[in-house]
Amino acid sequence: MNRVRIALQKSGRLAEDSLALLRNCGLHINRSKDQLFCRVKELPLDLLMIRDDDIPVFVSNGICDLGIVGENVFAECKASGEEFSAQILERLGFSFCRLAIAVPETSAIKTIQDLEGLTIATSYPNLLQMALTEGGVRAQSLHMTGSVEVAPRLKIADAICDIVASGATLATNNLREAITILRSEALVIRSDKKVCEEKEAVIQRLLNRMRGTLQAEDSKYIMLHADKARLEEIVSLLPGSESPTILPLQDGATKVAIHAVCREAVFWETLEKLKIAGASAILVVPIEKMMA
Ligand code: PRP
Ligand code: ZN
Repeated sequence: MNRVRIALQKSGRLAEDSLALLRNCGLHINRSKDQLFCRVKELPLDLLMIRDDDIPVFVSNGICDLGIVGENVFAECKASGEEFSAQILERLGFSFCRLAIAVPETSAIKTIQDLEGLTIATSYPNLLQMALTEGGVRAQSLHMTGSVEVAPRLKIADAICDIVASGATLATNNLREAITILRSEALVIRSDKKVCEEKEAVIQRLLNRMRGTLQAEDSKYIMLHADKARLEEIVSLLPGSESPTILPLQDGATKVAIHAVCREAVFWETLEKLKIAGASAILVVPIEKMMA
């Protein structure tokens, strides 16, 4: 079997972002809602849509070669102490969230030590235990698979350890974030199992496309006119650009055009500074694809 198999979250926040990334890599993915398996035409790739908690295991045991999964899920699985053979191939820079201990708004709990002897509800028992052990704290962990945020209100736990993204869920439940345990983003993980040359080539191709897509999203192409005399000053203002292109203007005795790829965000402040340095006709355009 020379097709690369990727595990993806079948539904949830990460699912949409993962599919969008693959589509930006030039892959057409048509799938119906309850379809678990999807064959891609453009590259020898198959997608397996499963629950995100299952992704690290499917990759670790080699059923899938790659997986796109949140660091929270990956770290929890790794912390289980069971044999695990997968590693991080790429950090994707989206689906940011954190695993945190949250307490009722009125609670005085501030540090991990304040949890001594208390009960904490969580879907992340392994990461919670690691944090407690590291803090030298003995506390009871109550394993729940969902709706963890209601535990304090039901008086079955004093605190929770759960994922926080916008903070809306905590606010709705009168909870506040007290201690951050782990910062998380979407990851590409890969199995430690060796693959044949053909498959390896497909994995590298896909990875290069992903990197190109992610880099293009952050990058902008800037064009502007500037005085030759102030060239150095203007070039130094361009964020994250390598050697820019300097072009003559048809009627330009004193002015030239500067074209540059900026690999960092271009903010209004930058444009204002460029303007003050004498730049004119400033254009900032998005970049669709990039390959070094
Ligand atoms: C997570 C978490 C919270 C919520 C936090 O659940 O368990 O319920 O997100 O996000 P917020 O800070 O933006 O409100 P998610 O919806 O990912 O799904 P799950 O609980 O079913 O795994
Ligand atoms: Zn939730």
